[in-house]
Amino acid sequence: MDISQYRGIIERYRDYLPVSSRTPVISLLEGNTPLIPSVSLGKKLGLRLYFKFEGVNPTGSFKDRGMTLAISKAVEAGNSAVICASTGNTSASAAAYASRAGLKALVLIPEGKIAMGKLAQALIHKARVVQIKGNFDIALQLVRDICEKYQVALVNSVNPYRIEGQKTAAFEITDTLGETPEYQVLPVGNAGNITAYWKGYKEYHRQKKSDRLPRMLGFQAEGAAPIVLGHPVTDPETIATAIRIGNPASWQAAVAARDESGGLIGTVSDSEITEASKRLAGEEGVFAEPASAASIAGLLKLSRAGYFSQESLVVAILTGHGLKDPQFAISECCLPEPIAPTLNTVAEACGL
Ligand code: F0G
Repeated sequence: MDISQYRGIIERYRDYLPVSSRTPVISLLEGNTPLIPSVSLGKKLGLRLYFKFEGVNPTGSFKDRGMTLAISKAVEAGNSAVICASTGNTSASAAAYASRAGLKALVLIPEGKIAMGKLAQALIHKARVVQIKGNFDIALQLVRDICEKYQVALVNSVNPYRIEGQKTAAFEITDTLGETPEYQVLPVGNAGNITAYWKGYKEYHRQKKSDRLPRMLGFQAEGAAPIVLGHPVTDPETIATAIRIGNPASWQAAVAARDESGGLIGTVSDSEITEASKRLAGEEGVFAEPASAASIAGLLKLSRAGYFSQESLVVAILTGHGLKDPQFAISECCLPEPIAPTLNTVAEACGL
């Protein structure tokens, strides 16, 4: 039996991570997420397409990969409290791992712009949740200022351990496929994840675990596209609240990933994100949150523009679970009126 599937990313990829025998491993057995082959979109687009479904990590997003390491290292360093700014998923993950480690979690979130599932997680895991009258970028600056003044460990992706943990997703993709994809598509917000994947692919390549590097294709929402525009956006706006970010912390590293890989960073509109989300759920049976659907929206856009050659090997990263943001799905669909509970009325309502 291969027991590696019952280990978290630290145990699975220990040789590639900055841990020692003294590092306490705080894990929820994150990682080892499914690489789901597409049954519909791939065929229609003429691609060998896979979805890396990071939404099935323990707290429902890719953040757990970085958080297991960031929290383990915070404990190793003797911290008793951690802090982050978040559009939702980082706070949920930080709160969960901090609870497990017996640390206090402090999270700063932008007022009224957090998806319900994420807020519920941060609260139930007993984080101290502080809503600020400002966006994510302002929250992140405040968190940085607080860490200069107080003894609290910062667990946003500006913490290098977050990037180290998240790079393991690139290892998993390569290990599962037996080769590196030709293209990888992912949403870009604070730009930590694109940085992490690129680092992971490069390390595996250097270690001769793969014989090529993928082109990195990142997508920002049109209303929150600082990297594409080339300047910060003061009032970022998008339905994909996870990537509602106007001044990404890892901006330069994202640009490097794009340029070194010969990839691109583009934009997708909110309506393209919505459409992609519905196609993913309706044709593939995969429910991802809106920010994740930006991957698919970008893929569809590039495909329409004739970007890919036939049968290219493409992996799209689905960063968070659809249940994180149930309000989005409900508002996009039509909730039916209740009817009389009789066989005939029900059969009729079922269209039978
Ligand atoms: N997808 C989801 C579901 C996210 O939660 C995030 C970021 C991203 C994509 C973008 O990743 O920031 O590394 O470029 N969420 C952060 C948070 C900002 O606070 O949860 P990135």
